[in-house]
Amino acid sequence: MEAEGTRRAIHLTVNGREHRFDVGNNETLVEVLRERLGLTGTKVGCNRGECGACTVLIDGEPIVSCMTLAIEHEGKSILTIEGLEDPRTGELDPVQQAFVENFGIQCGFCSPGMVMSAKALLQKNPSPSEQEIREGIQGNLCRCTGYQQIVESIQTAGEKMGGG
Ligand code: FES
Ligand code: FES
Repeated sequence: MEAEGTRRAIHLTVNGREHRFDVGNNETLVEVLRERLGLTGTKVGCNRGECGACTVLIDGEPIVSCMTLAIEHEGKSILTIEGLEDPRTGELDPVQQAFVENFGIQCGFCSPGMVMSAKALLQKNPSPSEQEIREGIQGNLCRCTGYQQIVESIQTAGEKMGGG
């Protein structure tokens, strides 16, 4: 049970839309995204910072959202997997499209976090080497693909985005 006075109003921009939340001091960012906003594309695997399934971008940086408190992000801009597709046309982001085309998705549980880490990597480095890709997704675990199709997906996405 929370002690009195342990809630605070914060403002977050999530996928381009501003929100105000009254959050508890111990409420994680992934709880706010999934439970307050219904953005359940962000997955919770381990809930202790080990699997990367909950990765979102905070001001462009990939962060595991199960390990960070919402209250620490007043005024920040959050991008989740739901924010990647084109809001007007519904077209997938090139990174999502490349994962589909290159079989980078199997069961799909790791995919939202993996795609967000890939997005952050390609924004900084549009033509990463295989080694750089593997380093970029080293915090994201996948039980299904053996990673090779994921690496190829990210290489393809970089090429589509003008790198390579
Ligand atoms: S659920 Fe956050 S790192 Fe595993
Ligand atoms: S596709 Fe199943 S865990 Fe990665």
